[in-house]
Amino acid sequence: MHRVPNLTIGTLQLDGVAVLAPLAGVGNLPFRLLCRRQGAALVFSEMLSCHGLIRKQPNTWRMLASDPEERPVAFQLFGADPDAMAEASLRLAEAGADLVDLNFGCPVPKVVRHNGGAALLKTPELLQAIVAACARRCPRPVTVKIRAGWDEDRINAAEIARRAQDAGAAAVTVHARTRAQRFGGEAQWDVIAAVTRAVGLPVIGNGDVVTGADAARMLAETGCQAVMVGRGALGRPWVFAHIRHYLDTGVELPEPGRRERAGLIREHFAGLRALKGERTARLEMRKHSAWYLKGLAGAAEARRRINACETETAFLGILQALERGALS
Ligand SMILES: Cc1cc2nc3c(=O)[nH]c(=O)nc-3n(C[C@H](O)[C@H](O)[C@H](O)COP(=O)(O)O)c2cc1C
Repeated sequence: MHRVPNLTIGTLQLDGVAVLAPLAGVGNLPFRLLCRRQGAALVFSEMLSCHGLIRKQPNTWRMLASDPEERPVAFQLFGADPDAMAEASLRLAEAGADLVDLNFGCPVPKVVRHNGGAALLKTPELLQAIVAACARRCPRPVTVKIRAGWDEDRINAAEIARRAQDAGAAAVTVHARTRAQRFGGEAQWDVIAAVTRAVGLPVIGNGDVVTGADAARMLAETGCQAVMVGRGALGRPWVFAHIRHYLDTGVELPEPGRRERAGLIREHFAGLRALKGERTARLEMRKHSAWYLKGLAGAAEARRRINACETETAFLGILQALERGALS
């Protein structure tokens, strides 16, 4: 295998080429730490509202929890007002972000209705003004995450990436789907290739990378410098170790067994518990556990018990039973 050079963004030299995607409702500190420990070169936070940051809304500020062990860490902002985004990007840098990422891809109505997220793909001048304002104000590298375009008739990722570059962005991530596609259909990797030809910035390709072989194929087919993994990391933080191993050796590692997965669930729970308290952590672990357990013998029974359990002791007992193979 030929070695892929590590990703560099501005002055930030990263160790590796596979990064964790921003994942609302998932990508908080405990999960980011797990992904870093498994070899993610960089981890992105959940998206944060620029207005929430500026108005010091407790829910937004709580999302800034970080730890030296996860660094380098990118915090992601959404919003549509250049001044507010610039102010918020400065706050993020002051709060310890190594990199500030701007969300120009979120498809949800709550965000696009206010002209944020993917809606900005339809107003390239405004998008460029936002990037320029943030790049001027923020002392850390500013990156952008875009989609292929708004819909099939308006695929403009290359133009948007060029504008972001002109405005001072340090890298661009391309989720190779249109807003109209949301998360369905196949990612159109040729759009990533078009962006790599259009700009001199590092390009991070995103969409449908789940295995080491997927990562190698995206790097080879599109010429991008790094890959971003979203859904392929849900309950699978080991995907980063697998990608690293595959790029080094050409060998795909097997999915971990029940002991390793139970260990990761326990570690994830302990992190969430420290951040949010026992009850919230236990409830949030229902969805994570379902992802971790996918494909394991006894998964359905473990899931049923985890969804019904009402104490930490019971939760940890289920994990022990899983480890012993008592549920399969
Ligand atoms: C649960 C979930 C939450 C997401 N939250 C964000 C977000 O906060 N910001 C963002 O830019 N993209 C977000 N995305 C999109 C992902 O970052 C990524 O672009 C998308 O899932 C495609 O990559 P994949 O095929 O590897 O999943 C989210 C996706 C999922 C599934």
